[in-house]
Amino acid sequence: MSANIVIGTQWGDEGKGKVIDILASRADVVVRSQGGNNAGHTVAANGETYKLHLIPSGILYKDTLCLIGAGVVMDPKDILGEIADLSARGLSFDNLKIDPRAHIIMPWHIALDGLSEKFRGNKDIGTTHRGIGPTYMDKYERSGLRFYDLIHPDIFREKALSAGKLKNAIITNVYGGEALDLDAIIDEYIGYGKQLAKYCADVSVLTYEAAKAGKTILFEGAQATLLDIDYGTYPYVTSSHPVSAGVCVGTGVGPKIIDDIYGVAKAYTTRVGKGPFPTELDDECGDYIRNNGHEFGTVTGRPRRTGWFDAVIVRHAVRVNGLSYLVINKLDTLGGLDTLKVCVAYKRPDGTVIKDFPATLEELEGCTPVYEEFPGFTEDISGIRRYEDLPEVCRSYIARLEELCECPVKMIGVGPERDQVIER
Ligand code: GDP
Ligand code: IMO
Ligand code: MG
Repeated sequence: MSANIVIGTQWGDEGKGKVIDILASRADVVVRSQGGNNAGHTVAANGETYKLHLIPSGILYKDTLCLIGAGVVMDPKDILGEIADLSARGLSFDNLKIDPRAHIIMPWHIALDGLSEKFRGNKDIGTTHRGIGPTYMDKYERSGLRFYDLIHPDIFREKALSAGKLKNAIITNVYGGEALDLDAIIDEYIGYGKQLAKYCADVSVLTYEAAKAGKTILFEGAQATLLDIDYGTYPYVTSSHPVSAGVCVGTGVGPKIIDDIYGVAKAYTTRVGKGPFPTELDDECGDYIRNNGHEFGTVTGRPRRTGWFDAVIVRHAVRVNGLSYLVINKLDTLGGLDTLKVCVAYKRPDGTVIKDFPATLEELEGCTPVYEEFPGFTEDISGIRRYEDLPEVCRSYIARLEELCECPVKMIGVGPERDQVIER
């Protein structure tokens, strides 16, 4: 039995989906604990590419139990679309279960996500416009609608009507937007509830029982450490806890069941959406990484911002998450660059050098990266499967990342496919 966590160490899209898919081949249960369909996890397997949003990446294995925990926010229409698309591609959903406590993303959450972003003007966060923030706001305000409500029409109608009336008042009076047709929405969503009811089960109980029975459990993180509501670059973050501690709260299990925590990073850094990015490259080199690494958002298609590997943020992730191992993906993407750079520290405007990621944007402002340089490589490494076979420059690069981040590198990604990985 083992219970391992896979999470992002940067600003998302580190290739968590691929790592989950690899580890899921040895797991009995895969659990999503937070976030929603703002996530886009790509799994490339057997010549097919799957882009998963809310469905756990374990779904590609037909016997794997796939769980969506209480900490997740679910868009019923979107998940039904995802289920329909994947079913048409031959995947089975017999083993999908969703916790009754999971909060429901309603059309007013999506509308308010867009309206509040517009209201922020050039201080917008660059959200995915999936209604994530407004749904978590209602959850913490204690006025949200949960999966249990959705599948009980009488309860749902009453709660949704009351919530919707208030939201319509905010949409029209505060933002000058158009009121939503509540009766139509409620009827539509009761229909979704009927289709989803069969998936309802207590994920806390299922996970606990699986652990007791000696099963292998994998917790699939979405988003990433620097997008965490507390430990990320607030306010340019998402509204949940993508850090390892969020897994226990979002699933309903205690921390004692966790064994290893894998933190996934790219061999460089990307970010989609707004907010600080100290090692960002606004030049040809950044374009090269974007094009070579196909760095365009899985959810919104936006071009991802690109930059050098930042050991300050990954060290922050090692500490905040208590990482056991790092996974470094997309090393192949750096092939062809003359020189590689890694940020080892930040220099403050007063000249002092810091190695711990600042707690606030105010303290981060004016910090510039201190770089170490490495020779580049031109070899095609995508076919390499043994660490010893990597070019010497790649091995020194990885060894230096381990040293700087204070964490051993367990896997190295050399391509998007399931088997394009070096395991150590
Ligand atoms: P996630 O959100 O962390 O699951 O990552 P995404 O799926 O949003 O983005 C990662 C992208 O990189 C996907 O297109 C993957 O297929 C791709 N990918 C993952 N690992 C590697 C790798 O080692 N090399 C290359 N070239 N692509 C990779
Ligand atoms: P995966 O799981 C990258 C970013 C958005 C935006 C900010 C807030 O694929 O790594 P939200 O819609 O959550 O309120 O947006 O967070 N963001 C992600 N960026 N990968 C993700 O997920 C993300 N999920 C949210 O771009 O900057
Ligand atoms: Mg993604």
